[in-house]
Amino acid sequence: MDVAVGESSRPSEAERAALRESLSRALPEIPPHYFYDDVGSELFERITALDVYYPTRTEIAILEHWAPRIVERSGCQHLVELGSGAGRKIRLLLDAWPRSQDDWSCTMLDINELFVRQSLARLAADYPRCQFRGVVGNFVHDLDRLGPPGQRLIVFFAGTIGNLHPHERQAFLQQLAAGMGARDRFLVGIDLVKDPARIEAAYNDPQGVTAAFNRNTLTVLNRRFQGDFDPSAFAHRAFFDTHHAWIEMRLRALRDTSVHLRGLDLRLDMHEGSEIRTEISCKFTRERFVRDLADAGLWVDDWFSDPEQQFALVLVRRAQV
Ligand code: AVJ
Repeated sequence: MDVAVGESSRPSEAERAALRESLSRALPEIPPHYFYDDVGSELFERITALDVYYPTRTEIAILEHWAPRIVERSGCQHLVELGSGAGRKIRLLLDAWPRSQDDWSCTMLDINELFVRQSLARLAADYPRCQFRGVVGNFVHDLDRLGPPGQRLIVFFAGTIGNLHPHERQAFLQQLAAGMGARDRFLVGIDLVKDPARIEAAYNDPQGVTAAFNRNTLTVLNRRFQGDFDPSAFAHRAFFDTHHAWIEMRLRALRDTSVHLRGLDLRLDMHEGSEIRTEISCKFTRERFVRDLADAGLWVDDWFSDPEQQFALVLVRRAQV
């Protein structure tokens, strides 16, 4: 079992410049990967268990039904998971893997080192014949760290692809396609467009877990960039934007507040009622997603959904060139 941690955990100048830029916009924005320190990763695990949060349990139900078919149709030998989190869903694919296969590996990439280490240790204990590898990294910047092309099933669960802005999503899909061989497959989970009330409820749980998850990003920024955000001065807000077909999460200042992030050399003056965008989570129609894939040179092999068509797992290959 081997874990590649990558570069130092201290922010690079490129990271600082990117955050400085996104915090300086008319609507300041914090990229969603800042949610996932140890506390945030754990809070997301709690979100997945909430009654209102339908995506996780729907995706698991699809996997429980279709994992053998997905594994068989992919014809793959190596599993690679992007944004693997606690590493529970991958077990449904591992359980469906042909027992006869000897040369069998699984690479888990996540931004949180503790979660990579813990999930790898648990998986290695339960699947002794599979070769596990961990990569601590970011699924946008570290696609070149996934090992060589050839019979890989690259999985990206949870609808996390929806966190990317449309132009970022296209760049991601293009880069992914460029690194895929003819026998690689991509399995991607997407949340589907549905009744906005149902979607909004999933991001506004009455227990306030999502609100705590949202505010936690300020604590992460305080630690990483020597900031003085007061998380209690911000209220959680999540709403469905029907025009863009995405959920938007924001933090709204409850009073005038001036924030200093010494590590960024940045001051942020916020008035009562002004907001920071912390996440978008795109919801898709089948037509739109198939088009996005096609634009990146990717073809749909198979489409798996639940009876209510809430969520879909899409099996994808590189288009013939
Ligand atoms: C982990 C990105 C799939 O977008 O639904 C959950 C994150 N944000 N509640 C999502 C999240 C608020 C989640 N993903």
